[in-house]
Amino acid sequence: MIKREIKSVLVDYNSPAELNEDMQNLMQKAKEAAEKAYAPYSNFKVGAAVLLENNEIIEGSNQENAAYPSGLCAERVAIFYANSQYPNIKIKAIAITASTKDGFVEDPIPPCGSCLQVMLESEQRANKPIKVLLYGTNKITIAEDIKQFLPVYFNKDMLK
Ligand code: THU
Repeated sequence: MIKREIKSVLVDYNSPAELNEDMQNLMQKAKEAAEKAYAPYSNFKVGAAVLLENNEIIEGSNQENAAYPSGLCAERVAIFYANSQYPNIKIKAIAITASTKDGFVEDPIPPCGSCLQVMLESEQRANKPIKVLLYGTNKITIAEDIKQFLPVYFNKDMLK
């Protein structure tokens, strides 16, 4: 038997002031994106902001639907739009946050498994780590790439 222990590194910050201006700006864009969510069923508004290598920022928010499974998470709205609009431009980072009727979440919310899978494909496709910033009012959590959240993942190499 071989037991494998897998380590992930997540770094918490107390305030946006501890981050550089680009990352502060990206988090601000994620907060603005959350306000544009269409989430009448969950009342959980998620915002994502994707920073591209050309320094353009693409925002996305969750889009719900009366037929529940037809909706889409904020992260995938933003990533799919970025990849469809700029197929050859790599993604540097993504900032994510969410708000409820009580305001922005206190503790950062990690992306769901399906969004992680999609983000991993983008990371692999561009061969460039995508930095993840999760904003909550209590703290900001940063990971240097998507694999920190999904270290064992299905990917294109397995289809060969
Ligand atoms: N949601 C996201 O937008 N991103 C996530 O990573 C998790 C969940 C959305 C989907 C749904 O509209 C609402 O949050 C509640 O699950």
